Amino acid sequence: MPGSRIAALGHYQPAHVLTNDDLAGMVDTSDDWIRRRTGIATRRIAAQDESVTDLAAAAAGKALAVSGLQPSDIGLITVATCSAVDRCPSIAAQVAGRLAIPSAVAYDLNNGCAGFCTAIAGADHALRAGAARHALVIGAEKMSDVTDWSDRSTCVLLGDGAGAAVLSADENEGVGPVAWGSDPTRSDAVRLVDDWHPRFVQEGQTVFRWVTTELPAIARDACHRAGLTPADLAGIVTHQANLRIIEAVIRQLDLPKDVIVAKDVVDSGNTSAASVPLALSKLTERGDIPSDSPVLLLAFGGGLSWAGQVVTCP
Ligand code: ACO
Repeated sequence: MPGSRIAALGHYQPAHVLTNDDLAGMVDTSDDWIRRRTGIATRRIAAQDESVTDLAAAAAGKALAVSGLQPSDIGLITVATCSAVDRCPSIAAQVAGRLAIPSAVAYDLNNGCAGFCTAIAGADHALRAGAARHALVIGAEKMSDVTDWSDRSTCVLLGDGAGAAVLSADENEGVGPVAWGSDPTRSDAVRLVDDWHPRFVQEGQTVFRWVTTELPAIARDACHRAGLTPADLAGIVTHQANLRIIEAVIRQLDLPKDVIVAKDVVDSGNTSAASVPLALSKLTERGDIPSDSPVLLLAFGGGLSWAGQVVTCP
């Protein structure tokens, strides 16, 4: 097949809502500071006994149901995650068990917050090569497991959740060529350090400056590879790290007013590799982006890494 397309989407978020006022009772912060510096109002936090596999399987089960496919149709499962604590079996293999998918190749992929867009590119390449006909591509994170709840500079940012896409081989190119890479000069800017317990640390201002400087050109590059300009897009779903970052990048792209911009960070916080599929799935579920219209997916994170592509909205 010459291409692939996103056939269906699904997402899952844990029930518990953690507000900025809740956080102000835990560390020296305020609703006003968090909203002004990040745009975040709430985030979802998984229950103690709820694992990355639970989140991933819930989102993937919904996407599979929407697609109308049978579990046996899925030939490839890949889960983008950086917060999963179990190393083996992979989260993807566990999802295969939960959804009774009989014989798919199943593996996890860690490219930090850029993981989902990286996994979409990998699955698209595999489908084009004929290695499978249908793939489940999932971004799932339990960031609360790797959060230092005494560090106000990071604990206010992170949330838990999962999003999933069913990708199917197709005669049209519903997944555009990927723009991806990494900047090794800033490989220490976002890390999971593991001294007493794995915890997320970052040089916030370094990442902020890098993203607001570099991401607009990467967005234009991904559009160019798909034969489009940013003005041709119906929607744009960037990694949901900070509303100020999203708005700064959008300003530089000079988009028409009717382009839909995902701002799920306000409700969900930063869910790392889950943020792009979570935001995209919500937008399509609400019918905010018309079917068959072009949407730019664009993610960045630890590495510093980036990956993005134009996809056709299911
Ligand atoms: N509440 C109140 N004050 C705070 C808080 C808080 N939660 N956190 C930090 N502060 C204080 C700091 O201590 C500092 O105080 P000081 O001036 O007395 O030293 C002051 O606020 C300013 O701190 P900065 O770190 O300069 O705040 P900034 O405006 O840069 O915002 C933020 C921090 C939100 C992290 C921002 O830098 C950012 O979003 N960076 C990009 C992060 C990113 O995109 N990461 C993505 C990759 S990783 C991933 O997505 C999983």
